[in-house]
Amino acid sequence: MPLSFPTLGLYSTAFIASALLTRRIVTRLQLSRAKHRSLTGHARMSRQLAKWLPFYEYDEAHFFAVDGAPPHIVERRRSAFYELGKQLADKHTKSIAWSKQTAPYVSDMQFVSRYRVPYQFSRLVREHLPLGSALASSQGVTVTDLDGNTFYDLTGSYGVNVFGYDFYKGCIETAVAEAGALGPVLGGYHDSLQYNVKRLCELSGMEEVSFHMSGTEAVMQAVRLARYHTKRRYLVRFCGAYHGWWGDVQPGVGNPQMARDTYTLKDMHAASLKVLRTRKDIACVLINPLQALHPNQNAPGDSSLLDSSRNANFDRAAYTEWLQQVRQVCSERGIVLIFDEVFMGFRLGLRGAQDYFGIQADMVTYGKTVAGGLPIGVVCGPQRLMQRFDEKHPANICFARGTFNSHPYVMTAMRAFLKALVDEPFVQQIYATLDVWDRRANELNTRLRDAQLPIQVRNMSSVWTVTFTQPSRYNWMLQYYLRREGLALSWIGSGRFIFSLNYTQEDFAAVSTRFISAAQQMQADGWWWQKAGMTNKSIKRQLLKEMLAAKFQRRAQ
Ligand SMILES: Cc1ncc(COP(=O)(O)O)c(C=O)c1O
Repeated sequence: MPLSFPTLGLYSTAFIASALLTRRIVTRLQLSRAKHRSLTGHARMSRQLAKWLPFYEYDEAHFFAVDGAPPHIVERRRSAFYELGKQLADKHTKSIAWSKQTAPYVSDMQFVSRYRVPYQFSRLVREHLPLGSALASSQGVTVTDLDGNTFYDLTGSYGVNVFGYDFYKGCIETAVAEAGALGPVLGGYHDSLQYNVKRLCELSGMEEVSFHMSGTEAVMQAVRLARYHTKRRYLVRFCGAYHGWWGDVQPGVGNPQMARDTYTLKDMHAASLKVLRTRKDIACVLINPLQALHPNQNAPGDSSLLDSSRNANFDRAAYTEWLQQVRQVCSERGIVLIFDEVFMGFRLGLRGAQDYFGIQADMVTYGKTVAGGLPIGVVCGPQRLMQRFDEKHPANICFARGTFNSHPYVMTAMRAFLKALVDEPFVQQIYATLDVWDRRANELNTRLRDAQLPIQVRNMSSVWTVTFTQPSRYNWMLQYYLRREGLALSWIGSGRFIFSLNYTQEDFAAVSTRFISAAQQMQADGWWWQKAGMTNKSIKRQLLKEMLAAKFQRRAQ
């Protein structure tokens, strides 16, 4: 029987609906396949787990024995722990007193001191291994605390310190002198801005610049512009990559609200390219080049050193190839490729990560070091992406302001910084010899192996991380031994050493020797005693049992 028109219409509607549904399912599955299997790749799940995770801690009786160490090792650890605490307290009396008096009023100090080590160990560590957070001065590659103790600085001031503190002091002195006549006048621009935008355009290969007050704000603005011009909703970030603390770039733990306009995809994986190639709702892709050191992993803080599974391995050729593929698919699909060089810009070379990996991005963000030591965020992009208004629709604008944007002192400090990049022979010399950092890492690794210590370092140029070669519950103790040896670390501890590029071979040799000595003492104090058969997996299993027990007990109460 021939089909009537209404029946035919019904069939074709059903056919179209099912084709659309199948397409939706396929693209959803592609998205799922492009998520990294770790919790870092699953924002929603990690947030739920964070809410579920119960607090528990080790009391004094268990603190030194969680890996089943025999009594003589437990005793050795215990006495070393209290002795270390006593030595730190005696040496840093004023700095510690200052921190104790101040911390109750400063939420940031409370937060970082709580998360220096895994939370199960945190209370006893806070009570008995106090650290001073106040510093009095810096010189060369060292900083000095309130008690007059001098440390080799491995913090790099969160990455700001690329050329050495004295260099930035110089930039700021110049800035004060040059902006002094205008002072803190905002709204109008200091004439130094003209030099800065010209230089930034040359260095980035872009046409326009906007100034902001932090790297976070620069990233916010770059993403907002990408959404505005592409008329698409989603930003893509790669698993583990840090792009500041704005909600959309921090969809997982740490942000109380779910970021609904963000896809977090697997770094260096074909499944992610497929998502970029097939979806129509992606405005931009953010690249933090530092992820090349530890793709798909968060910044390696010591509070997550529950076992020894931290790993890192920078493969320049593989990451270059990956970026080339991302570049190609972004060009094909009209997706804005944003290089977030807030951290690595000016550290890998004069023209930053774009030049280092041989990729021209669509937009670039800079921050940290580029204002000669003062607070900054910068977006550079082509005119077609930087424009904040629509010629044809006058009410359709892309808004961005900020009271302190283009502050005269920031602009003059930036000019001093950017001028020095071309004028100062020592900067050229530093850039010409950057491979020294690979040699130094290799040299230290050989010494560590020769000394039979269970640690190694991994590096991406002058940014280093410590990895551990045998399973242990106590790797986080290393940061306290390093501090006793006069090495200053930031609150994430052994996970990130940021060297300023003015470290001489002599300075580095001193750091190496102290590093090895700290590790030898830690080994002698029994922290790396190893139970037969212990693996990172068995440690994880034990932790899960402890968590379940803590949860169960809480319910039972
Ligand atoms: C790659 C990257 N983007 C953005 C930011 C945020 O910069 P800021 O701390 O100045 O807001 C950081 C900070 O560490 C960063 O490393």
